Amino acid sequence: MSEVVAVLGGTGALGYGLALRLAHAGHTVVIGSRDHARAEEAASRASQRLPSADIRGLANPDAARAADRLVVLSVPLASQAITIATVSEHLGDKVLLDATVPLAPAVGGRPTQVVGLWAGSAGQQAAAAVPEGIAVVSGLHTLSAATLQDLDHPLEQDTLICGDSRAAKDVVREVIGTVTGLRVVDAGRLEMSRLVESLTPLLIGINIRKRTHAGVRIVGLS
Ligand SMILES: NC(=O)c1ccc[n+]([C@@H]2O[C@H](COP(=O)([O-])OP(=O)(O)OC[C@H]3O[C@@H](n4cnc5c(N)ncnc54)[C@H](OP(=O)(O)O)[C@@H]3O)[C@@H](O)[C@H]2O)c1
Repeated sequence: MSEVVAVLGGTGALGYGLALRLAHAGHTVVIGSRDHARAEEAASRASQRLPSADIRGLANPDAARAADRLVVLSVPLASQAITIATVSEHLGDKVLLDATVPLAPAVGGRPTQVVGLWAGSAGQQAAAAVPEGIAVVSGLHTLSAATLQDLDHPLEQDTLICGDSRAAKDVVREVIGTVTGLRVVDAGRLEMSRLVESLTPLLIGINIRKRTHAGVRIVGLS
C-alpha cells in the first residue's frame, strides 16, 4: 500500500538514496530539510530521475506533519536532538525511524571511530528525545547511501531494526519492506541498537579495504 513517508535530512546522502528507493516503490515521499528551498531542490532532482513519482520538498516540521505513519530521521548524530526537537509537535502517533549512527568525523579518511553515548546508542538517544508515547525504531544503519542512490544496483540485503514497540516495527516493515530487494529483519529491543549501530564502522572498514559498498544479509531465516 502506498503512503506518504517523510525523510528528514533527505537532502543528505543516505536520506536522498532512501527517498529515491521509497518513491521508486510507489510511495509519496516528502524530503525534509532545515531549509525549505534545499528540500525543494532535492525533491526536484529526485523527480527528474523518477518522473512519474510523487516527491515533494518541505521544511522538516512540515515534512513530519505530512507523513502518514512513518518519519525517517537521517541526519548526523550531532543534529539528532535538535532535529527531533523541531519536529516533535508534528509527530502525533507516527513512528520515528532513526538511521543515525554515532560516527566520529573522518580522521585521515577513516571514519571508523565510534563516539560514546550516554544513552547507549543513537537509537536510545532518539527515544529519550521524542515526546512520551512516540515509538522510535532504529534501522537502515548498514545501507550504503551510494548503493541506495544507484537505482540500477539491486539491493539484495537486509536492514536490521530495533525497537520496543512491535506495532511500530510492523509499520517500518510494511513501509521500508516495500523497497525492492530490501528485507527488514527484527533485531530485537531498542537496546540492541548499540550492537547494530556498531556494524556501520565495521562495514565502512570493509568497504574501504574492498573498494565496494557491502551490506549485510542474515542467512537461515525462513
Ligand atoms: N551515508 C551513509 O552511507 C550512511 C549509512 C548508514 C548510516 N548513516 C547515518 O545516517 C545519518 C545520515 O547520514 P548522511 O551520510 O546522509 O549524512 P549527511 O549527508 O552528512 O547529512 C544528512 C542531512 O542532515 C542535515 N543536517 C542537519 N544538521 C546538520 C549539520 N549540523 N551538519 C550537516 N548536515 C546537517 C542536512 O540536511 P539539511 O542541511 O538539508 O537540513 C544533511 O543533508 C548519519 O547519522 C549517518 O551516520 C549514513
